Amino acid sequence: MATRTCLLFSSSSFLLILLSFYLEKSHATVEVESHFHTLHLTSLLPSTSCTPTTKGKRGGASLEIVNRHGPCSQLNQKEAKAPSLTEILAHDQARVDSIQARVTTQNYDLFRKKDNTSNKKRVKDSKASLPAQTGIALGTGNYIVTIGMGTPKKDLSLIFDTGSDLTWTQCQPCVKSCYAQQQPIFDPSSSSTYYNISCTSTACSGLKSASGNNPGCSSSNCVYGIQYGDSSFSVGFFAKDKLTLTPTDVFDGFMFGCGQNNKGLFGKTAGLIGLGRDPLSIVSQTAAKFGKYFSYCLPTRRGSNGHLTFGNNNGVKSTLQFTQFAPSQGTSFYFIDVLGISVGGKALSISPTVFKNAGTIIDSGTVITRLPSTAYINLRSTFRQFMSKYPRAPDLSLLDTCYDLSNYTTISIPKISFNLNGNTNVNLDPNGILLSNGASQVCLAFAGNGDDDSIGIFGNIQQQTLEIVYDVAGEKLGFGYGGCS
Ligand SMILES: *[C@@H]1O[C@H](CO)[C@@H](O)[C@H](O)[C@H]1NC(C)=O
Ligand SMILES: *[C@@H]1O[C@H](CO)[C@@H](O)[C@H](O)[C@H]1NC(C)=O
Ligand SMILES: *[C@@H]1O[C@H](CO)[C@@H](O)[C@H](O)[C@H]1NC(C)=O
Repeated sequence: MATRTCLLFSSSSFLLILLSFYLEKSHATVEVESHFHTLHLTSLLPSTSCTPTTKGKRGGASLEIVNRHGPCSQLNQKEAKAPSLTEILAHDQARVDSIQARVTTQNYDLFRKKDNTSNKKRVKDSKASLPAQTGIALGTGNYIVTIGMGTPKKDLSLIFDTGSDLTWTQCQPCVKSCYAQQQPIFDPSSSSTYYNISCTSTACSGLKSASGNNPGCSSSNCVYGIQYGDSSFSVGFFAKDKLTLTPTDVFDGFMFGCGQNNKGLFGKTAGLIGLGRDPLSIVSQTAAKFGKYFSYCLPTRRGSNGHLTFGNNNGVKSTLQFTQFAPSQGTSFYFIDVLGISVGGKALSISPTVFKNAGTIIDSGTVITRLPSTAYINLRSTFRQFMSKYPRAPDLSLLDTCYDLSNYTTISIPKISFNLNGNTNVNLDPNGILLSNGASQVCLAFAGNGDDDSIGIFGNIQQQTLEIVYDVAGEKLGFGYGGCS
């Protein structure tokens, strides 16, 4: 509960007026609603020390999440050089381009009958960027979880990704190529429960939707291939083995990619875990036990106690707000229905059709939230008005609203909240509003799409510290506060 810093106040006189108002009017619990976060600048800066994890009691199978580039990442410590923020943001744009190309292509027929103007644009875009089968989301997710694979079980730290479906790990003998990873590379020949999947099985043909590519066949073994927008890829045998999430959550015959040729921006992780909606995702493959229900909390760059939890043994917390998923387009992504955005308590005047036309997904692997151009420009100008007393700083990659706060110890920033279908208001943590590259360059952590047609993405910076519940079977998404720090 360390991050409920929201009830701090921007101005003490304002506070006194509000307090006296409440004390006169009501004997009920006094709760002062401020439209600002007042915070110490240090709470936005990355930490260099890892605070020990406090393991809470959660229902289901709970795995610890660490930020790949954060102080608690073991992968980080051995990495010669952690990527700079600029590099992370450049990778992020590659991911967004590939997601947008993928959704665009899938929506081609959907949009054709509706509007021939946007149709023309979409066709051109999809040709200009990536064809459908290569436009798979992904590659640069910042959060990792550790699972066990095989018998005896070997630990694998994987990037976890709600924007893709296929789970894969690098595999011996790395016929073509494996990148350097932190843990020993999984060796199927030393697992007694490993099986190759045959080319003729229905599981093999399921790869088309799960990976975006038709499966291949080698000596009657099914071969998968998955590419990501930034020319990262993994190719190898589609296989089955025992998956161990916790000692009591063990899945025989889990289908995953055993990668023999792997390259790209996966850091020192062993691969990737796909949490999309496709029948081959881990969510679908574990549905009999967990009912397609999972939740997570992404820690900030200072925090450490994030989690990815499958199942819902403890029942639904009453403090969660739920929004229905928007009708799904394609088999992977989780679409949400954004109705509006408030900055400093002020609802931005953005026509709801702007969000409706573009559509929005929630994605654990995209870093910076992308908004339709019209929405972003509106958000930016309102935010700049509230921040006008702070000196500006140069742009940071795709972030164009930065401040030099090196002369400040405390700052006051407007709260930002997302209004979602179902009367759900998601009030962002300060770390979900500003991204700092040191005190002299602290930036509004949002970016605009170049237009109003491309899909919006609710990214992982904005999701930090929120408890986010995916009730995939119930078609709804839940938000709570203080899921981690
Ligand atoms: C859409 O197509 C119809 C028929 O081809 C045409 O009459 C109309 O002007 C087009 N609309 C736009 C906005 O281009
Ligand atoms: C899986 O297929 C590969 C390539 O044909 C082969 O080398 C390996 O022995 C097979 N593994 C099993 C368990 O059948
Ligand atoms: C910080 O304060 C010093 C001393 O008043 C001033 O010279 C400098 O310009 C300030 N820097 C910024 C970024 O405001």
